Amino acid sequence: MEINNLSKLERHNLNNHKSFVLWFTGLSGAGKSTLANSLENKLYDHGIRTYILDGDNIRKGLNKDLGFSDDARVENIRRIGEVSKLFVDAGAVTLVAFISPFIADRKIARELVEKDEFIEIFVDCSLEVCESRDVKGLYKKARSGELKMFTGIDSAYEKPVNPELIIDTANKSIEQCVEQIYNYLSTKGLIK
Ligand code: ADX
Repeated sequence: MEINNLSKLERHNLNNHKSFVLWFTGLSGAGKSTLANSLENKLYDHGIRTYILDGDNIRKGLNKDLGFSDDARVENIRRIGEVSKLFVDAGAVTLVAFISPFIADRKIARELVEKDEFIEIFVDCSLEVCESRDVKGLYKKARSGELKMFTGIDSAYEKPVNPELIIDTANKSIEQCVEQIYNYLSTKGLIK
């Protein structure tokens, strides 16, 4: 009997949908994980197989040896890019929620998958608003000097130049933001 390697296309046919990366980038507290979680639930309700990569499952496991220096963040994103590629090969709609502060690293992640398989979503929320939310109390610690190299305070964040989507979480509800992303995916034929 001949055994062939399963292709991505065969997995797509089995799932009845394509696979791709939804790459959420933005400041801490901008709403990346919240949006990813909410969108994932909506996709699930539509029978779409998904997986979220975020700080909870990556920084506590695969990347627990990495901190927040520039070099560590570069390596963080490099590994996440590689893992995303595997998930896309496996047929999952892969939602990636990390600050991912550097343009060059996001570009490397983009180039690991095919052209139409990477959707960069800039979760656009000003430092002022993120800081006023201060969900985890980390901005306060960064301002007092207790926490060093905090993104937006004493570590850089490079905004995407030409992202597929810009989501304004300061002025729109979570439902509106999720709707915007969902509509984009439908319009582009990425989901039915
Ligand atoms: S990234 O820059 O390497 O992409 P990542 O998204 O994994 O960052 O982690 C960011 C999360 O780690 C923040 O939301 C925050 O909860 C926590 N964190 C701890 N220290 C820092 C820091 N110095 N800068 C930014 N986030 C930090």
